[in-house]
Amino acid sequence: MSGEAGRGQGRVTIVEPPAPVLLEGFADAVRRGLGGERKSLPPRFFYDARGSELFERICDLPEYYVTRTETAILRAHGAEIVSPPPETLVELGSGSAEKTRLLLDPMLRDGREATYVPVDLSRSALVAAAEALATAFPGLSVRGHVADYAGAARVVRDERAGGRTTVLLLGSNVGNFDPAEARAFFRGLAAELRADDRLVVGFDMEKDLRVLEPAYDDAAGVTADFNRNVLARVNAELAGEFRLDRFRHVAFYDRAAGRIEMHLESDRDQEVPIAALGMRARLRKGERIHTENSYKFTRERIERLAADSGLRLDRTWTDGRGWFSEVRFARG
Ligand code: AVI
Repeated sequence: MSGEAGRGQGRVTIVEPPAPVLLEGFADAVRRGLGGERKSLPPRFFYDARGSELFERICDLPEYYVTRTETAILRAHGAEIVSPPPETLVELGSGSAEKTRLLLDPMLRDGREATYVPVDLSRSALVAAAEALATAFPGLSVRGHVADYAGAARVVRDERAGGRTTVLLLGSNVGNFDPAEARAFFRGLAAELRADDRLVVGFDMEKDLRVLEPAYDDAAGVTADFNRNVLARVNAELAGEFRLDRFRHVAFYDRAAGRIEMHLESDRDQEVPIAALGMRARLRKGERIHTENSYKFTRERIERLAADSGLRLDRTWTDGRGWFSEVRFARG
């Protein structure tokens, strides 16, 4: 079930599920994630309006090479990545969609028209990006979907205009899936792709610890605020009573697992009421809430993921240091 709300200029439409659907998801995740022995919260709940704003600030941090490196690849190779130009560009986890301009620009050259379908959990980020892009690109219609990744394959199916479709998953968003989730997600997408369609994915590559760890534990503490914001959300939306200053931001690279892990570590024994759930989260001093995994890739891991998901590697673009790869897949 979805409601449609047309916005301003006639070329922007926002499709969204009723609010309780998303709120339910958060409440269930908090009950499950903070009620048991091993505590965790899924990273998709970072992105309320404040979390999206903090993430935008992360993208500009000197330590967070991810956005800068990917942007450089898109600036150098954007025209090839969307060649031949698709009629529909679906972007999963679109955020501010700043980098997307580097693909829309070549796509819409010579008076061509296209539809851009951003999909994001943050309504505020989605609306801002949709309106900015519709204004910047006269040949563009925008149909934004407030949805999470579970709805991605359905959006691709519903929004394809009949011509070529390219699906984007930029910014190392794939890194926030666990390997089994990534396989299931790509299999679902692969099933929707036709022969001329493409899936373009931004992979953050494994690299030196001295580069990886500061990217998730910056000197200005923006990533720490981003991490703690999920507790602020529990307070605001579920009448929780978390004191944010009682949680230490922890981030480290686990080389065996090939991932950065982020946690919030309790600085004391504490019991935190969450009134809307009728529960208390009980944490011991030093106990951690696992809030995010950010997987890093090697060429072999990307090839294995493709093989396991019914996808074929079509082309790869990378930066001079091999820190990031933009990989284009076709149906296998
Ligand atoms: C959105 N995602 C790809 C980011 C990442 O690098 O895993 C989220 C993030 N977490 C901390 N810093 C950035």
